[in-house]
Amino acid sequence: MTNLKTIRCFRNKQYFSIFHLPVRIATFVNAGIIKFLGVVGALLLVGCYYDKEEILYPQSANCTPIANPTFTTDVLPLLNAKCNNCHAGSSASAGIRLDSFNEVIKYVNNGTLTGSINHASGFSPMPKNGSKMSSCDIQKIQDWITMGAGSN
Ligand code: HEC
Repeated sequence: MTNLKTIRCFRNKQYFSIFHLPVRIATFVNAGIIKFLGVVGALLLVGCYYDKEEILYPQSANCTPIANPTFTTDVLPLLNAKCNNCHAGSSASAGIRLDSFNEVIKYVNNGTLTGSINHASGFSPMPKNGSKMSSCDIQKIQDWITMGAGSN
């Protein structure tokens, strides 16, 4: 009698028999686990994607490269705005002045300017105690250096 009932239920696609209960539970639990893993996986993927995006292409979309960056027009105003609270005049921090070409070129040539504004390891990160310069501003200074660090 019990067997007959089971078979009928099975045919009706209603797995209410006590024997099918573990199967139903397993199916339910598995679906839950798969959904959970899916959500976690998606979050991880999204997280990684943004991490890499930020590291590899920081604000690059917004940078308009300048064809011929010059010291006076492009570099000095940035240094005045971000650095020369500390690095100008006779009492400049660490004796490092960044208020004229003849001074700035020293730190271009010894690599500390690039190292410090990029927060590269082995250099003191600049601006000291401030937030890193925008990647577009850093790019501007680096382009000026790459194109020969002219004095004009
Ligand atoms: C709040 C003051 C302050 C500001 C703003 C500042 N600096 Fe400095 N800077 C210092 C001090 C102090 C030192 C000496 C090293 C140290 O204390 O980390 C220094 C050191 C340096 C050095 C030598 C780094 C090394 O690793 O040898 C460079 C190059 C430099 N600064 C460039 C800059 C540039 C470029 C900016 C702007 C983007 C800037 N600084 C902004 C205070 C400042």
